[in-house]
Amino acid sequence: MGYIAVAIDGPSGAGKSTVARAAAARLGYVYVDTGAMYRAIGLAVCRRGIAEEDTAGIIAVLPEIRLAITYQNGTQHVVLNGEDVSEAIRTPEIARYASKVSAVPAVRQFLLDVQRGMAENGNILMDGRDIGTVILPQAQVKIFLTASVEARAERRYLELCEKGQAVTREQVAADIAERDRQDMTRAIAPLRQAEDAVLLDTSALTLEESIQAVLRIIQEKTEE
Ligand code: DC
Repeated sequence: MGYIAVAIDGPSGAGKSTVARAAAARLGYVYVDTGAMYRAIGLAVCRRGIAEEDTAGIIAVLPEIRLAITYQNGTQHVVLNGEDVSEAIRTPEIARYASKVSAVPAVRQFLLDVQRGMAENGNILMDGRDIGTVILPQAQVKIFLTASVEARAERRYLELCEKGQAVTREQVAADIAERDRQDMTRAIAPLRQAEDAVLLDTSALTLEESIQAVLRIIQEKTEE
């Protein structure tokens, strides 16, 4: 112990990882993106041609998975059975797989030890859905970072347009609402705000304002 753990949870598209990564860099903490781990398992499942809904198939793949988290110039890389999959996991298809595999208890158990272990080696800022509630309930700082569906949809829409993808605002908003529903209603470790988490709504904040708000909360909590 003696290390500081900051848990940042919240729904997809709230800018969580961008804000968390920047805040961690400014504090000199190690940033851990736990969503990337679920995505890596989703990728392994997808590549084996296992259906998203095939829980038994997903569980059968776990013993074949070797997951390593490495850092290059402070940036997290996810290594799946020796292959750096940090880029390959960033597709809508793998996001969908990640959401499905994350509802399987054996998958969550598989990642629990990995994630807890990372908090034992230094100051960390970990982002996910259940960090403050399940993974690091003793974290000194817990933040629930969210934004309205409309604000999240607008940001995501602009991001996708920039990448040249043909989508409508309505489609993007519907996707986000559906992922929220899946993440919040699953039986195990659903997305919810820990009782002792500080709520931060970034709907009306710029990126820099959001980073400053997170840094302020961390400073207040670690000075207590
Ligand atoms: O944050 P993300 O979009 O990379 O997360 C991908 C999926 O993983 C998302 O649908 C929810 C799930 N997830 C989870 O269940 N628990 C976490 N701690 C992190 C992500």
